[in-house]
Amino acid sequence: MNRAEKLASAFLELFGAETGRGLALTALRYGLVPAPGKVLSERLIVDLAGLRLQNPLGIAAGLDKDAEHLEPLSRMGPGFVEAGTVTPARQDGNRKPRLFRLKEDRAAINRFGFNSGGALAATDRLAEYGGSAVIGLNIGANKDSKNRTADYVQVLELCGPHVEFATVNVSSPNTAGLRELQRRPELRSLLAATAQARDGLPNRPKLFLKISPDLTKSQIQETAEQAVESGIDAIIATNTAAVNFGFPGLTGEERGLVSRHRVEPGGLSGKPLFELSTRVLGEIYHVTNGAVPLIGVGGIENAGDAFRKIQAGASAVQLYTALVYFGFSSIANILQGLDDRLRHGGFDSVSEAVGTDNANWRMRE
Ligand code: FNR
Repeated sequence: MNRAEKLASAFLELFGAETGRGLALTALRYGLVPAPGKVLSERLIVDLAGLRLQNPLGIAAGLDKDAEHLEPLSRMGPGFVEAGTVTPARQDGNRKPRLFRLKEDRAAINRFGFNSGGALAATDRLAEYGGSAVIGLNIGANKDSKNRTADYVQVLELCGPHVEFATVNVSSPNTAGLRELQRRPELRSLLAATAQARDGLPNRPKLFLKISPDLTKSQIQETAEQAVESGIDAIIATNTAAVNFGFPGLTGEERGLVSRHRVEPGGLSGKPLFELSTRVLGEIYHVTNGAVPLIGVGGIENAGDAFRKIQAGASAVQLYTALVYFGFSSIANILQGLDDRLRHGGFDSVSEAVGTDNANWRMRE
């Protein structure tokens, strides 16, 4: 963190986690957060499913839920920004408090439950974006939806013309029943419907699928095979891990957490998610044999973490929680460190390094 970020972080400690997050985003919007210098290197340029990224580091979904901060976020130097999750109708999400900082674990637990301003509002903002980073949108279903497939299609049809990729999110632990859409028959029909809607759009955005880290080895195989069969352009691995939702899921203690808020039900992100999400990533790379590009997300704090995800099989990576603990300057730090690692390893590009250590990141039984 630079000095301004340290000061801001000390100030934000005084507020609850969600208010602190809101204030940080407002500061970003009004230009109060110094932009770290952009890291430009030929080695870092990536072709992700046909999208040209200036670098492989993206901002994960959930930070800019309603696409309100895309330009200031893209000035922080990421190669891509994923807005959302956006649902078709506006909804409030769960009651507050619903975001908890687990400082000692360098983690967070959230149970926002898709608070969203709705697809219409997001459409206008996405259409206005004029920055240089690639923009995608994470899409979801409303809590009280009678037809979830129709919800995904509706958001895609409205917002899709203004983004370069759309992510089908079937992996949030905070909307009851959502993750059941990862099962093969449900996934097959959902992906067929969304692909058809996407094919009808003039810009034909890429279609990504975001999966949960709580899948078993055989579920991963099933989900990955279905994604390939459905022609998905990339898989994002992973979303947050479910914690404290009751048996058969794990408690915070069972996940090795020590902070006071370890007992809160929700989705766990940050450092404790790194190993689990990277193993899921490594397993998907193995079963798909590199047939579909992967985006690695979960617990990335530094260049070493980003490089490990790439060597496990990721063509690009994303982060969120580390921005809370280390500030936006971590984007430039990670990219600089990644460029150094590639050079020292004798790799001329990110793509040359993808999957080079996959054998060590397969899932254990
Ligand atoms: C998230 N994440 C998330 N993912 C998603 O697909 N849709 C969403 O709306 C959200 N919302 C959200 C809110 C908060 C507060 C957090 C911390 C996370 C998950 C996020 O995109 C990412 O997959 C995980 O957080 C793992 O990455 P990090 O945070 O460990 O880098």
